[in-house]
Formats: sequence, structure tokens, C-alpha cells
Amino acid sequence: MSTTAAVIGCGDVSAVHFEAIAKLDGATLVAVCDSDPRRLAAAVAAHGVPGFADHLSLVEAVRPDVVHICTPHDQHASVAADFLERGVHVIVEKPLAHTLAAGQRLVAAAAAGEAKIAVCFQNRYNATSQAMSSLLSSGALGAVLGASATVMWQRSAEYYDSRPWRGTWAGGGGGLMMNQAIHTVDLLQWLVGDIVKVSGHAATRFLGDTIEVEDTAEFVAEHANGARSVFFATLANAFNAPVTLDVVTEKAVLSLRGDLTVTHSDGRVEVIPERTSASGGRSYWGVSHELLINDFYARLDDAEPFWISPAEAEKSLRTIKDVYRQSYPESAHKVS
Ligand SMILES: NC(=O)c1ccc[n+]([C@@H]2O[C@H](COP(=O)([O-])OP(=O)(O)OC[C@H]3O[C@@H](n4cnc5c(N)ncnc54)[C@H](O)[C@@H]3O)[C@@H](O)[C@H]2O)c1
Repeated sequence: MSTTAAVIGCGDVSAVHFEAIAKLDGATLVAVCDSDPRRLAAAVAAHGVPGFADHLSLVEAVRPDVVHICTPHDQHASVAADFLERGVHVIVEKPLAHTLAAGQRLVAAAAAGEAKIAVCFQNRYNATSQAMSSLLSSGALGAVLGASATVMWQRSAEYYDSRPWRGTWAGGGGGLMMNQAIHTVDLLQWLVGDIVKVSGHAATRFLGDTIEVEDTAEFVAEHANGARSVFFATLANAFNAPVTLDVVTEKAVLSLRGDLTVTHSDGRVEVIPERTSASGGRSYWGVSHELLINDFYARLDDAEPFWISPAEAEKSLRTIKDVYRQSYPESAHKVS
């Protein structure tokens, strides 16, 4: 029997969700939803399924098994909770929510019901991330001593002008950290250990004429295992450089630059290549949306929650909001 799916929010990222559903054996797209009539009409025409202007009408009329929520950040938590409460499984794009309070409500909604939920941190499925995770958790490389990470990308005024929510605190809950760098914050805390203390700063250094949110940030983090890490991210780079993540252990250094290079203290060097993607998504989205989506559908009948759960996704949200709290102490709406 086919698992029925619907996509809520038919903008840029929805393309990779539509593509993954189309390729998935046993999944059938049955409806789409977008609050913008032009986007809705385009999605209905492209996919030949009924369209709805709001998610509650969709669930009443169609009641799919799974929904993919690809809306702006301020429309993640409440929309996801509405579906969970109605027993519909949810894949929600990152971040968990635009505010910590909304994120916590979604954590509670996920814990209260039977429906499954995944938060789309697809980079955990990259070949390099999986290899780093296995190597670090095997213990073969000794304890983690420290780490550094950078996200040095470029976004133009056009990127924000075409989607005004991306440049606002109300729509995005933040800028560079919430929209782009959050994937690397998630990897850092997943691979090195939970972040228990962060000291950082965020600012708008480059795109101040266009956006109200930050475009540059840095922090030093303390992890639960005692390791420390440094993080720098900016959208003022000359080009979209590969994300870098270096983890120093007692016996090796693991360096991510697209591919993963593991240099052992005895001189051995291993290179683990990243997969290449045939999908229509943008290169900086990475190659793993489809893997996460396939895994989620395969695990719908599992007894335990999906591993990238709201509680797991709340960790990166909390770290970022801690950096905002230190950067904008007078602005309650930025740190909530
Ligand atoms: N995982 C990734 O690598 C990745 C990559 C890109 C974007 N994203 C995330 O995907 C989400 C969407 O980003 P985008 O760039 O596609 O944005 P977008 O603005 O292109 O698309 C969002 C769509 O949602 C619609 N919408 C807004 N509120 C709605 C509601 N309540 N119900 C139904 N539709 C609604 C809008 O009309 C728009 O068509 C964001 O959370 C973003 O952070 C994730």
C-alpha cells in the first residue's frame, strides 16, 4: 500500500522534496499547499494534484500519511504541531522553529502523540558526516580535544529581495545562523558533543542595506565532554566556499573540505569522498535530502522516535539563540 504525501510550502526547497517523493517506491504525492496563490497554481500545474491555500483545509480534505513542511521559519512549529495533533507524520525543514518557545512547543507536541517527526538536517546523512561519526564514536582515534568550523558563503541582495522573510527577525528568527550556518552548528554538536556553554557574537556587517538580521557570527563553544570549538560564519565571502570542519583527537585530525581527509598521527592519510548529487537542488544544500527522506519513510513503523527529532534539533536552535542573547541584549524579539 502506498504512503500518501503532501508538500506544504512550494518555494525553492520544495523542489528536492518533490523529487525525493517522486523517486520513492511506495510513496504517492496527493496534495500541495501554499498560501501564495501563484505558487500554489504553479505547484498544482506541475504535479497534477489538488492544491490548498492552507494546511488545515488540506488535512481535512486529504489527510495524507506524511507532510513535508517547506515554509518560512515562522511557519514551522505551529504548522507541524497541527499535523502531529491530527496523527500525520511530519518532515519539517530546518530550523526547528523561529523562536525557542515555539521550538519547545513542538518538542512537547512530538512527545505527546504517536505521529513521527523528522527535522531536515540532511547533512548528517552525507558520506563524510557518517564517516566522521563512526570514526569518532568507535574510540579508535582517542578522545576529541577540540574542533573548528567555518561557513563562508555569499548571499546577494536579490536572494533576500525575492523572499523578504529571509531578511527579517519576524520571518526568519535570525539570519545567517538560523538559515545557513545552522547545518554546521548541528554537525558540530552532533559530532563533537552537546554544547553546554557558548560565548559568541552576531552582527550585520555586509548586507545592512538589505536585511535586518545578522550576516556574520562567531562563537567559542564548550562541549559536554570538555572539548572546545571555535566557529566562524559569514555571508560576506567572495564565493560559496566548502564548509570546513576540523576535529582534532588524540590520534588524528579529521578535516572536512567537501571530501573528508583523516590524517593519523602515525602518518597514514585516508580520504573519504563525498557523494555527488544528481538532484535538482542547489549545490550548497548538500546531497542528502533524499537519503533523509527515504530513511524517514522506511522508519515510519519503528517504535522509537526518528533520530533527528525536535528535541535533537532544539540543540542547535538553543546555541544560536544564546549567541543572539549575547549580541542583542536589548532586543527581546531577537533572542526569544
Ligand atoms: N535543508 C536545507 O538545506 C534547506 C535549503 C533551503 C531551504 N531550507 C528551508 O526550507 C524552508 C523554505 O525555504 P525556501 O527557500 O524554499 O523558501 P521560499 O520562500 O522559497 O518558499 C516558502 C513557501 O512557503 C509558502 N508559505 C508561507 N507560509 C505558508 C503557510 N503557512 N502555509 C503554506 N505555505 C506557506 C510561501 O508562499 C512560499 O511559497 C525554510 O525553512 C528554509 O530554511 C532548507
